[in-house]
Amino acid sequence: MKMNNERSTLLINNRISSKDLLEPFRGFVNISPMSELNGYDTVAVYDAPAFLPFWFKTLKDQGFDFKYHVVIYFDPLNKFVSNNLLVSHVGLLLVSKNFKPNKVRIPHEFCNFCKRPLKDWGGKTHLMHPLGHLISDVWKDMPLTFEDIVEKDAPQLIVKRIQQMFGEVTIISGERLVFRYDDQSGNYRENHLPSVFRNIVIQGDAIEKLKDIPPNSVNTVFIDPPYNLGKSYINYEDERKDYIEWSLKWLEECFRILKPNGSLFLLNIPKWAHEIAVELVPKYYLVRWIVWDEPAEPRGKLIPAHYSLLWFAKTKNIKTYPLDLSQDSMNYCLRIKCTKIRRALRINDKIVPRDVRWDIHRVKHKGRRFKYHPVQLPERLLEFIIKLTTEKGDTVLDPMCGTGTTLAVAKKLGRGYIGMDIDPVYVEITNKRLKGEVTEILEIPSNHLKNGEYRLTKKWVQIKMGELTRKLNRLPTLDEAATYLNVKKESLANIFPNWSKALKLAKIIIDNPSLIKGEHLTLDRYLEKDQSN
Ligand SMILES: C[S@@+](CC[C@H](N)C(=O)[O-])C[C@H]1O[C@@H](n2cnc3c(N)ncnc32)[C@H](O)[C@@H]1O
Repeated sequence: MKMNNERSTLLINNRISSKDLLEPFRGFVNISPMSELNGYDTVAVYDAPAFLPFWFKTLKDQGFDFKYHVVIYFDPLNKFVSNNLLVSHVGLLLVSKNFKPNKVRIPHEFCNFCKRPLKDWGGKTHLMHPLGHLISDVWKDMPLTFEDIVEKDAPQLIVKRIQQMFGEVTIISGERLVFRYDDQSGNYRENHLPSVFRNIVIQGDAIEKLKDIPPNSVNTVFIDPPYNLGKSYINYEDERKDYIEWSLKWLEECFRILKPNGSLFLLNIPKWAHEIAVELVPKYYLVRWIVWDEPAEPRGKLIPAHYSLLWFAKTKNIKTYPLDLSQDSMNYCLRIKCTKIRRALRINDKIVPRDVRWDIHRVKHKGRRFKYHPVQLPERLLEFIIKLTTEKGDTVLDPMCGTGTTLAVAKKLGRGYIGMDIDPVYVEITNKRLKGEVTEILEIPSNHLKNGEYRLTKKWVQIKMGELTRKLNRLPTLDEAATYLNVKKESLANIFPNWSKALKLAKIIIDNPSLIKGEHLTLDRYLEKDQSN
């Protein structure tokens, strides 16, 4: 394994109290200046999620760039709870001037019942790496409980994982002072929401349109803004230099409208969540840093796999409700056949919802979805939030409602809604969706090529390229592949415009000659063998 320079990584270890994790936080974290930071490429900070944005700000001022907010899951044992939601994670902030982690793999996980891989490889199990899968930025494979975390330094398992990633790691204790500000409930007086604002969708810029709504009048606000990633919307450019200042403008309006006991949720990528949280926490309570663990395609050495869902409030006395929902246990697969048998045998594969949700899946880009929107949210995410913080008759506001997911769920659950979007096309889609009139649903066919001449599938080609690689003892070219498979080069190029994707299995074989030396072993068979050892 390649090791980085000695002394290149610093781990700042903080002792986390139960109060740090359980109590809504409004205040400030004072971090003592650290001159020794200069010698390090990468700094990792282990702390309560609510305090990490202050670490980020301090480290950013010293020239470090945001890399990852790693979520470290622990089992709350159904006891570690606050505001009707189990508390189940701490954080590890990774910032760097020169980020070069080693690849770290952890063993594949298998369904407790059917024993097949937990991750749905969508017919691509031949691509499972024999040494396991790369880690993501949500670590939920460590057998930790809240008792291993609370009032303790970072557990050894976490320190070891950081050492695997960075080689030599220097560990110091963090010097931070947490100031908690007094509650200001008395400053707010709840208002009645005028009926004109009940169940409407408004077209326009949220910053302007929110001004019309009276203060302290809405129960829950949910915002899923553009993430400043340059995605293409219909009438809106998602890339701006003043992203944080712009976000704070509409957020301030949303807080003004929020009832004193109401909740505001902001969904975003972790980097922006940090930048925004550090500005808001001195003014408003961060009730919880919720994690939506929604893995993307494996990319890089540490797969970015989650969104931050920041739960804020104006006061400490917020209204929450016991959830009549469950979360899928992470030990069982989602295959329909397996699920059906488990149901029939009454196997308990559900758990009480916690603040790391790994069981809510994205609206798929392939298959059924509303055709117009690149980032339509799954209804279950909204159901979770709305049920947690409202009751029937309350009002939910989504000032950037896109295809109207929040409003559709609010309506289904008997809550009132206010939606806004700058884009008239989305406002129209939302209105149609609320009336049950959406017809623009798209089916995309699967990628099998079924022409008469050859029935080439991606999987078949990848397996064959593994076979050819063993014969050649190197990666085959497109020409060699075409000859070997007796197919036209164009047909191959057609299903693999990026030829390196056809060589996924071949690369695993080249990288691990000792594992498959001389043997004609498929990866499925390798895994069988490995398990029986
Ligand atoms: C990430 S999308 C929301 C997707 C939505 N949650 C869904 O499930 O369909 C963000 C939306 O914000 C809208 N938007 C961007 N800037 C806005 C502004 N200043 N005021 C109101 N809406 C805005 C965009 O048109 C886009 O539809």
